[in-house]
Amino acid sequence: MSTTPYALDNSSPEAAARFPALARAFDAGTQRHLDALGVTTGWRCLEVGGGGGSVARWLAERVGPTGHVLATDIDPRHLELGSIPEVEVRVHDITTDPLPPASFDLVHARLVLLHVRERESALVNMIAALKPGGWLLDEEFDSSVFPDPARNPGECLLKTHVALARTLDERGVDRNFGRRLFGRLRSLGLVQVAAEGRTFMWPAGSAGPAMMRTNYEQLRSHMIDAGYITRSEFDRDIAALDGRDFFMPSPILWAVSGRKPAS
Ligand SMILES: C[S@@+](CC[C@H](N)C(=O)[O-])C[C@H]1O[C@@H](n2cnc3c(N)ncnc32)[C@H](O)[C@@H]1O
Repeated sequence: MSTTPYALDNSSPEAAARFPALARAFDAGTQRHLDALGVTTGWRCLEVGGGGGSVARWLAERVGPTGHVLATDIDPRHLELGSIPEVEVRVHDITTDPLPPASFDLVHARLVLLHVRERESALVNMIAALKPGGWLLDEEFDSSVFPDPARNPGECLLKTHVALARTLDERGVDRNFGRRLFGRLRSLGLVQVAAEGRTFMWPAGSAGPAMMRTNYEQLRSHMIDAGYITRSEFDRDIAALDGRDFFMPSPILWAVSGRKPAS
């Protein structure tokens, strides 16, 4: 097992709402990147830390009955993919559990490696699972865009947002891993490495605040017990997410791809 537990673990009641929000916020861009890599009929794909399964479902449709999608997660309870014949769901820790070597045309992960301290060995494992010529696409946050009303009046910087960042840092989450991925994939021997960051302005009612609400609520007790925020400040911030004037910039989600050399 990974040496630190996943900070936003899937067994908590808030997790169920996180996955539809993530899909709404990011799937369109993920699908565009997967399209550009040429995912097609017959491909064998690995979806690491599949969460709610929206990307694995899309991949299954794309690869069709002659292809295969292995969807993994340390806790796959929200991977509702049982009836799709092209998909195999597996309980799997990307940092420690074995994968078939040189087996996949595509390995994809989104917002997984920033959470695991052993992200370097996870990357090595993902690359080892690629066939020669296969593609890795990893999408991870870079929090260098942070809400800042001094820079942009009107942006909301919630005290809960700062408390969450502090909590995630303490738990070994690397909130800036996305920015380093380009260099990491090159160093690990991938070729045709490319990176694109996407960021959004998130108003009330959009997918981003819905996702942030699940994160805030899941770590609420910890943030209050640690003295990072009071109960009333927390309640005020949760209400602010629905305010007519609320908006905040998203972190940058870097989508970084690279190809395993053909020989
Ligand atoms: C933030 S969610 C992202 C889910 C999905 N990839 C998405 O973008 O919608 C992170 C997921 O990674 C899984 N995860 C965390 N640590 C993991 C590990 N060491 N190996 C495999 N999956 C892991 C979690 O259980 C969770 O489902």
